[in-house]
Amino acid sequence: MARQVLILFAHPALHRSRMNAAMSEAVRDLAGVTFHDLYGEYPDFHVDVAREQALVKGHDVMVWQHPFYWYSAPALLKEWLDVVLELGFAYGEGGTALRGKRVLSAITTGGPPEAYQPGGSNRFTVRELMVPFEQTAHLCGMEYLEPFLLHGVRQLNPAEVRERALQYRARVEALVSGIPAP
Ligand SMILES: Cc1cc2nc3c(=O)[nH]c(=O)nc-3n(C[C@H](O)[C@H](O)[C@H](O)COP(=O)(O)O)c2cc1C
Repeated sequence: MARQVLILFAHPALHRSRMNAAMSEAVRDLAGVTFHDLYGEYPDFHVDVAREQALVKGHDVMVWQHPFYWYSAPALLKEWLDVVLELGFAYGEGGTALRGKRVLSAITTGGPPEAYQPGGSNRFTVRELMVPFEQTAHLCGMEYLEPFLLHGVRQLNPAEVRERALQYRARVEALVSGIPAP
């Protein structure tokens, strides 16, 4: 049975984006996918908690799609987590709304792959740097999938950007069909 996938997209400067813009175009019309542009919806950071909680409840899988900003997500995704994942909703007594759902981080980086390893300039893998997100998912009873990573995206030529965007589309389609990784 098809799963409902909610893409929480966080990019504060979409008009300057190449990679995330192409990724977004590649998935926004897929059946089973709700594409939710957080900076488009909440440019003033006033997240509508009730609306977001209802959205989360209506989906089986979440995707946190964003560029890597200072080894983390742009601030509005953090704000979303801070205000939407409330005690009694997402964790703690009665907080079971997210239990059993899956979540995928889909992240683009400026740095090349070799920078994200021991001995590289960023010293840690992206998976390691994303541990607060992984643990947030875990605390809420969600399965944190192997992240979808695109490194060194500013060096890509237009054909490569298109190809990577189609890889992302395939990964999201696999989430809709219930397969963790293609
Ligand atoms: C404020 C800011 C912080 C950034 N921090 C990082 C970083 O920590 N690591 C990294 O590899 N790239 C970093 N970058 C580069 C972005 O990740 C890169 O430009 C983005 O993934 C490109 O995707 P786009 O074409 O969709 O904008 C940063 C860029 C900005 C503007």
